[in-house]
Amino acid sequence: MSEQALTIALSKGRILDETLRLLAAAGLPQPEGLQSRKLILQSSCGTIRYVLAKPVDVPTYVEHGVADIGIAGKDVLVEAGRDLYELLDLGIGRCKMAVAGLPERMAGEPMQKVASKYPRIAAEFFRGRGQQAEVICMNGSVELAPLIGLAECIVDVVETGRTLRENGLVVQAEVMEISTRLVANRMSFRLKYKAIDLLVRNLQAVVVKGA
Ligand code: PRP
Ligand code: MG
Repeated sequence: MSEQALTIALSKGRILDETLRLLAAAGLPQPEGLQSRKLILQSSCGTIRYVLAKPVDVPTYVEHGVADIGIAGKDVLVEAGRDLYELLDLGIGRCKMAVAGLPERMAGEPMQKVASKYPRIAAEFFRGRGQQAEVICMNGSVELAPLIGLAECIVDVVETGRTLRENGLVVQAEVMEISTRLVANRMSFRLKYKAIDLLVRNLQAVVVKGA
């Protein structure tokens, strides 16, 4: 059954603990050596190889087929725009993508510079509203941009709302709901259908139970 062994790319960081809990609840073979700095972890039975990737790189690994399966946020998947099968909403990592800015500059004003780690999503959102926007691509701490005068607003992820609140920013518009998704490489889905289908069904059971 070695052709049915799966490589799963996991997103390091914020959603990793919740992802591992979900995989365990679904009865999946667990990665060994999580305490180490290793980036490839094997399950003890050898049926699953886990790759610990930076979240934005998960769609790339899966599209290229070096990972059969990926677990990543909808934000990352939409921004990447890769050709993947989205198999399941895992119901974890729930948050929103929103436009935010200083309260005195509310949405609807003629646009505007927009800072974002999600340039495609940001550009598409403003284009869809028929508003002109110059998108400035950032790598993090995007909330700084309107405070320091780099941009009038930001498009970013809002989870608890604490970062916005503590920096005096407010949500001006909601862009989309986000949660963690299970995606598959198109070729792997066909070649390893049995293993992937079993994985999806096991996860589905715990996602439904947890909902
Ligand atoms: C994320 C996101 C927001 C914040 C939202 O940033 O970009 O800034 O978390 O969470 P909250 O609503 O609970 O405050 P992150 O901490 O990942 O850092 P980065 O933007 O610098 O990458
Ligand atoms: Mg941030």
